[in-house]
Amino acid sequence: MELGLKDKVAIVTGGTQGIGKATALALAREGACVVIAARGRERLDSVAGEIRAAGGKVAAIRADVAKAADCARIVSGALEGFGRIDILVNNAGTSSRGGFESVSDETWQADLDLKLFGAIRLARLSIPHMKKQGGGRIINITNIGAKQPRAQSMPTTVTRAAGLAFTKALSKEYAPHNILVNTVCIGLVRAGQHERKAVASGVGLEKLYADMGKDIPLGRVGRAEEVASVIAFLASGAASYVTGTSINLDGGTSGVL
Ligand SMILES: NC(=O)c1ccc[n+]([C@@H]2O[C@H](COP(=O)([O-])OP(=O)(O)OC[C@H]3O[C@@H](n4cnc5c(N)ncnc54)[C@H](OP(=O)(O)O)[C@@H]3O)[C@@H](O)[C@H]2O)c1
Repeated sequence: MELGLKDKVAIVTGGTQGIGKATALALAREGACVVIAARGRERLDSVAGEIRAAGGKVAAIRADVAKAADCARIVSGALEGFGRIDILVNNAGTSSRGGFESVSDETWQADLDLKLFGAIRLARLSIPHMKKQGGGRIINITNIGAKQPRAQSMPTTVTRAAGLAFTKALSKEYAPHNILVNTVCIGLVRAGQHERKAVASGVGLEKLYADMGKDIPLGRVGRAEEVASVIAFLASGAASYVTGTSINLDGGTSGVL
């Protein structure tokens, strides 16, 4: 399928590991100019090198998306590097959850700053450029727990539920400008956060993934590339009538549509 992504400019936050890295590579393979943003310089350089070696165009920006000034630098970096913004993938994030009484104000605030305000600020900064260009795509990564919160799942599920509402409200407001806004709700996907958990717990990575996959209807944890292809579809010309929707990418886990 021709995705029509050649020379589109895509910002991918958290584009150095897991889902974000797979997305940056997938979009670059389709000919998009990719702007990756993350905090760690070493991984930024390494992923940028990988994209360039494959013939892709990339700008790597060291930024913490929980900080307003850094969000502004990401957008200005994209404009300086490539002159436009067509696609924004709000992916940077991490899991944050615990027993409700143990979650401090600081933890709540940090989760909202990273996963909600990061997306809000980057969208607010990118939309004027998308409007001028006649359209754009915003893809927010959230979590299936946003629709079906479990015990001990805060603050993540609350932040992610806000991400769903943000996606829907934004899609309604900017459809007249041909800016399409969708969310991909992730279940369990192989990524850096689980690798770090395996190291911290001393459990082998494949054993951890096998245990995590036991209750998933498809019988396994997903691969980052499987998320990246759905994101690339939502960013593409093939999804030109899809907006305000959420896709569960969870191997069938969620009990809700
Ligand atoms: N994998 C899963 O099973 C799963 C499940 C549900 C939801 N998700 C969501 O999917 C998204 C991607 O997760 P992943 O599993 O692929 O994560 P990952 O492998 O841990 O990668 C996270 C990426 O985000 C970047 N990042 C983290 N904090 C950042 C910050 N403050 N500012 C800028 N960049 C930041 C990291 O780079 P630096 O550390 O260098 O900044 C890294 O590039 C996240 O929003 C996550 O919550 C994943």
